[in-house]
Amino acid sequence: MSVVVEPPAYELKPYKSLSNEVLAARIRAVKKSLGPELLVLGHHYQQDEVIALSDLRGDSYQLSQAAAENTACRMIAFCGVHFMAETADILVNRPERLAERGGERVPVVLPDLAAGCSMADMAGIEQVEAAWEEMAELIDVNDVTPVTYINSAASLKAFCGKHGGIVCTSSNAKAVLEWAFKRTSRVLFFPDQHLGRNTAFGMGIPLDQMPVWNPHAEEFGGNSADAIRQSKVLLWQGHCSVHAIFKPEHVDLFRNKHPGIRVLVHPECSREVVEKSDIAGSTGKIIREVEAAPPGTKWVIGTELHLVNRLKQEHPEQEIHFLSPIVCMCATMYRIDLAHLCWSLENLAAGTPVNVIRVDDETTRWSLTALERMLEVK
Ligand code: 13P
Ligand code: SF4
Repeated sequence: MSVVVEPPAYELKPYKSLSNEVLAARIRAVKKSLGPELLVLGHHYQQDEVIALSDLRGDSYQLSQAAAENTACRMIAFCGVHFMAETADILVNRPERLAERGGERVPVVLPDLAAGCSMADMAGIEQVEAAWEEMAELIDVNDVTPVTYINSAASLKAFCGKHGGIVCTSSNAKAVLEWAFKRTSRVLFFPDQHLGRNTAFGMGIPLDQMPVWNPHAEEFGGNSADAIRQSKVLLWQGHCSVHAIFKPEHVDLFRNKHPGIRVLVHPECSREVVEKSDIAGSTGKIIREVEAAPPGTKWVIGTELHLVNRLKQEHPEQEIHFLSPIVCMCATMYRIDLAHLCWSLENLAAGTPVNVIRVDDETTRWSLTALERMLEVK
């Protein structure tokens, strides 16, 4: 939900005709005038111009942690997608932080409200609640831990909070599933079936104990009652359309053409791709692997294009390829550009914040429970 307190001091339109040089200079000027009061967070999939002006770049976990730990900032501009800004709002404005600031809220601004996540949209709260009720006809849902990937709406995080569940990111999914299996014998994992399947399979759970729940199916998510009764992990039928472009045959092509090449992919890729890779991990892990490799290492990387291109530029001593022959990027991450960033920062500085992401108090309360459980998992 976006809350504009007053009409904005500046309209967006004129910013669109300014050059990136002018916009960057104006953004730097706002950052200088606001100092540590302003925190600009940038996800690794952002375009280079935006990353260059971010105070902190990170994967979803690192950025949530930054929002949870920062006590100096009084405003956040989140260069990422909607669920990330929601998560930052929940963490930075949680009750103890609000009390420390005498009740003052930190506005979290998403420079372009159209920056959503198609995967997050594949699980709606009504669908998940309906699925939960239907599952209860077959299994004891008190013995199911709901786990939501952080790429989900705050309402789903709240659902997890209320039902003894937890949030995970691509960097801690295994630790989170271990946490869940200490409490219950089953897990419902949403919205990304691939992260759920890749992680659970890596922990030794057989594929036939991971039925996929199709929220549009007539009955039991399109499964037999027995499949649900025998399940260990119920996977939601959601996926990332960006990572869906990477196919196992792309891995074969690179391995044939470049013997010895290292294949590095994000766990939002399909099981077949991850199986053929050398390493699968979050965007942060992908970066750390490249940084730690000796010069001359050959890589083919299966994740969002902007990150792969940046790694190519930052590591000319290594040979880096993009795993797909099709150029495919996250179109919603790409919505954040310097025009939107400059416009939102100048309005923040003028005291008329635009595109403020504000999660309602009830949803905040329960999603915080699920997020705090995740931040405590080691
Ligand atoms: P991570 O940065 O946590 O790996 O997530 C990738 C992603 O798809 C974010 O939307
Ligand atoms: Fe969502 Fe995929 Fe884009 Fe990540 S890369 S924000 S999961 S659509």
